[in-house]
Amino acid sequence: KRITFSGIQPTGIPHLGNYLGAITSWVSLQNNQSSESELILYSIVDLHALTIPKDAEMLRKSKIEIAIILLACGINPKKCLIFEQSKVPAHSELSWILNCIIPIGWLSRMTQWKTKIQEQKNIQSIEDIDISIGLDLGLFTYPVLQAADILLYKSTHVPVGDDQVQHLELTRNIAEKFNKLYKKNVFPLPQTILVPAKRILSLKDPSKKMSKSSPFEYSRINLTDSPKEISQKINRATTDSQKGISYSPDIRPGISNLINIYSSFTGLTIEQVVNKYKNYDNKMFKDSVTEVVIQHLQPIQKEIEKLRKEEGYVKNVLEDGANKANEIAKRNLNEIYKIIGLYH
Ligand code: TYM
Repeated sequence: KRITFSGIQPTGIPHLGNYLGAITSWVSLQNNQSSESELILYSIVDLHALTIPKDAEMLRKSKIEIAIILLACGINPKKCLIFEQSKVPAHSELSWILNCIIPIGWLSRMTQWKTKIQEQKNIQSIEDIDISIGLDLGLFTYPVLQAADILLYKSTHVPVGDDQVQHLELTRNIAEKFNKLYKKNVFPLPQTILVPAKRILSLKDPSKKMSKSSPFEYSRINLTDSPKEISQKINRATTDSQKGISYSPDIRPGISNLINIYSSFTGLTIEQVVNKYKNYDNKMFKDSVTEVVIQHLQPIQKEIEKLRKEEGYVKNVLEDGANKANEIAKRNLNEIYKIIGLYH
């Protein structure tokens, strides 16, 4: 049976990276299900969001806002389950069990906690960071909770952006270790599903990914940005002084990122975009990118406005998703408890 799972943190408004790297892929997987027996779960991972300092009221609001945005982007609760992670306690429960079989060395090799600490403490070189640097345990064991999210449902497919590839590898290692330890094929090894636009870069510093946690508003385009904001942000995007438009992520990361965005929104290949615009200057190309982004976000933003007035409906969708997810999660956790000797 094909079981798809993915998650998004309620830590702010989703941006073009989340949208092109993950959400569009979630929508197409949902719409192209091959049979009725498939299961798709998309979770708003609020427990993960606790690893970043957060105001309680903001977290509460952010969760509803993310649910609204996912629905506006085309996630259809008739075809998949959308739910809040904390409403399904089995995520935390399985996470503890996995914690007990994971060497610290596996986690210390993960890069996400290092980049988060680097951002928080403004440290120049990532090489200077080790676990003695004032790191909260939650941020360190974050990938274990993520593995629990995925394995809890015996997921086989996980659509994510490029930055999550490392966590997916870890998840497979954990699944393998568990299966071997208890001599049972409990967990399938989940496949990573990447879209071609696997990594959208920061508009300010294209050596980094576009991220919700960057303090620079101009580095990202949020799905709720007005046409004026989108146009200003793209116009200010860091590019280079080379003439014409060409694709070369290493040498021209800024322009290549814009080409990638244009290609993802229009469905044209990178080559087709380059051919069309090769003789344009940066400003003219930026105008075309702006137009495409605004045009594609407009219907989503209309839908967001509409759903903001229907909070009751959105909450119902989440509750229904959590109820159904709980049923499956409890059943699987029971099986795991039996295997490891907690239940008779
Ligand atoms: P999060 O909330 O940071 O991002 C949600 C999804 O968006 C993708 N993404 C990007 N893709 C391309 N370019 C970017 N600049 C970019 N920024 C973000 C992410 O790869 C992700 O797919 N740890 C996860 C949440 C999570 C999860 C899970 C995912 C928790 N449990 C289980 C899959 C399965 C995260 O922080 O995503």
